[in-house]
Amino acid sequence: MVNAQLYTRLNNGLDMPLLGLGVYDMHGPEAVTAIICALETGYRLIDTAAIYRNEAEVGQALRQSGLPRHQVFVTTKVSNAQQGYDQTLRAFDESLRRLGTDYVDLYLVHWPLKATRRATWQALEHLYDQKVLRAIGVANYLEPFLDELATYAQVVPALNQVEFSPYLYLESLLRRSQTDGTVLQAYTPLARGRRLDDPKLVALARQYGKTPAQIILRWLVQQGVSAIPKSVTPKRIRENFGIFDFSLAAADCQLINGFHENLRVVDDPLPLL
Ligand SMILES: NC(=O)c1ccc[n+]([C@@H]2O[C@H](COP(=O)([O-])OP(=O)(O)OC[C@H]3O[C@@H](n4cnc5c(N)ncnc54)[C@H](OP(=O)(O)O)[C@@H]3O)[C@@H](O)[C@H]2O)c1
Repeated sequence: MVNAQLYTRLNNGLDMPLLGLGVYDMHGPEAVTAIICALETGYRLIDTAAIYRNEAEVGQALRQSGLPRHQVFVTTKVSNAQQGYDQTLRAFDESLRRLGTDYVDLYLVHWPLKATRRATWQALEHLYDQKVLRAIGVANYLEPFLDELATYAQVVPALNQVEFSPYLYLESLLRRSQTDGTVLQAYTPLARGRRLDDPKLVALARQYGKTPAQIILRWLVQQGVSAIPKSVTPKRIRENFGIFDFSLAAADCQLINGFHENLRVVDDPLPLL
């Protein structure tokens, strides 16, 4: 059911699938197999990063899948160690080489490091001007970082990838992103599995005949938030994609908004301010 999935339009007109495969913490043949499984399932968005050390595996899976390059949306990110203007330009070339492609769809500043985030963003703007990537964005930019970025950015970020789940429901950041025209993308959307046994969530899953993970992912995409769950398990890769044949009632979305408990499974970016 490849065509049944939902897309969103970035602020430069580029279409991006709302649901993708995150590939943090997978390597070698395990990663290649998982990514090919996802592509066969219908995923058309892969989220990697230089720091994940698996861009080569992403490239290999893309080629092995036989899909035309333009059909898969590939995101990668500049690592903290390579931030800064010149270093970022070099880092981008290295990512392209490892991926074995001549462009990426989306390139992100991985973390808003105080000393280097401005120069890093300016390098991304330069790469965007050069048309060697299709869109640029940021990750881990909570509102104060966006306020600062707005003072010097020439290009509005197409996307902001942040930790976000029912248990970390950043409502004001979501509203801000909608106003700015920046797509919000949820990383660790499943909170690494830590709340999949939450009785409130399990009750909803029973009601809809779906799994807890599917309820969370549907809640995200239904409000236009992109989600990039990670799995190396074929059954779960398919399960996580099975969210395009039902929808949640508005009242149930409201209910899920109330699951918020400020749960973070990754570092809080705010101390970097
Ligand atoms: N920008 C950033 O700073 C940043 C930070 C963190 C993550 N990310 C991105 O976001 C992606 C997702 O985040 P994440 O990998 O940290 O966490 P996640 O997607 O919330 O959770 C992944 C974990 O949940 C398990 N899982 C997946 N589907 C499941 C299901 N249907 N039922 C039960 N368990 C399931 C996976 O196990 P198996 O793999 O064993 O199946 C894995 O242990 C990453 O891969 C990465 O691309 C970005």
